[in-house]
Amino acid sequence: MADRTPLVIDTDPGIDDALAILLALASPEVDLQLVTTVHGNVELAQVTENALRVLHLAGRSDVPVAAGAAGPLVHPLPERAGHVHGAAGLGGVELPPSPVPVDPRPAVVALAELLLAHEPGTVTVAPIGPLTNLALLLHVFPEAAARIGRVVWMGGSATRGGNVTAAAEFNAWADPEAAAAVLGSGLPVTMVGLDVTLPTVLTQAGIERFRGAGTVGAAAAGFLRQYVDAARDRYGIDGVCVHDALALTEAIVPGTLGTVRREVVVGTTLGAARGQTLVDRRTVAEHGVAVAETVDSEAAVEFLVSRVCSYGD
Ligand code: RIB
Ligand code: CA
Repeated sequence: MADRTPLVIDTDPGIDDALAILLALASPEVDLQLVTTVHGNVELAQVTENALRVLHLAGRSDVPVAAGAAGPLVHPLPERAGHVHGAAGLGGVELPPSPVPVDPRPAVVALAELLLAHEPGTVTVAPIGPLTNLALLLHVFPEAAARIGRVVWMGGSATRGGNVTAAAEFNAWADPEAAAAVLGSGLPVTMVGLDVTLPTVLTQAGIERFRGAGTVGAAAAGFLRQYVDAARDRYGIDGVCVHDALALTEAIVPGTLGTVRREVVVGTTLGAARGQTLVDRRTVAEHGVAVAETVDSEAAVEFLVSRVCSYGD
């Protein structure tokens, strides 16, 4: 196997976050070396506990989990997403607790230390929640942030409007000031937004395949039951959009998604457009953000299902 890409996942588990973590751990292309947690779907303490338990489920409690920001940079979050992910964040599934405690370092310290220990440009950071931790890293440890090889963010939307409001996707909406800071930082960001995640639906047939994949697969199928109900209620589809897992697919296999470099600004007012990612599709930008605009959804779903099912081998 060619050198594995050192990977950090910054996450707010969350059902699709959990799948994304399981996908990364089943992928030989990457070496998950750190999980940092951030407020988002549910409260920080809960997402941190969930991250520990998902890693333990996969037999990888050796991967350190460091807790990060408990809230957004500036304005409080009006609501979280317990109605989508379940009050405890994993669709009502109670996983066994991990024997390993949370890493005592704050997330930004753990991330900075990891980045400073690797050659510049070699580490991929995949934030699949609000960008609060990454924005803090930029301000507290800019010399470490500058060493990031690639940021693959699940968030935003160019043409599909929002999912938490008509204008805003949840991860951008949960901390618009952080999203503005990161997208405007000059870091090499790939934005994996609703434009490519909404068409990428994991159907019941795919979920059923998980059931044959041992303990991990059965848990994944369990997580998804609530998510399917929420997707049916919200989008009227018979399946789930595993947003974060698609972002990790791009992190694991760069180029999975078709991207175009665009200028992106984030709505940071307190009005109706708060959290909107305004993507300028009139021109191809010289710098800006690599915005994912095309996807082979069928191939992406098969990649996810086959990899998660590999736990049962
Ligand atoms: O809009 C989808 C995003 O919001 C995903 O990261 C999901 O986990 C939720 O946090
Ligand atoms: Ca998430």
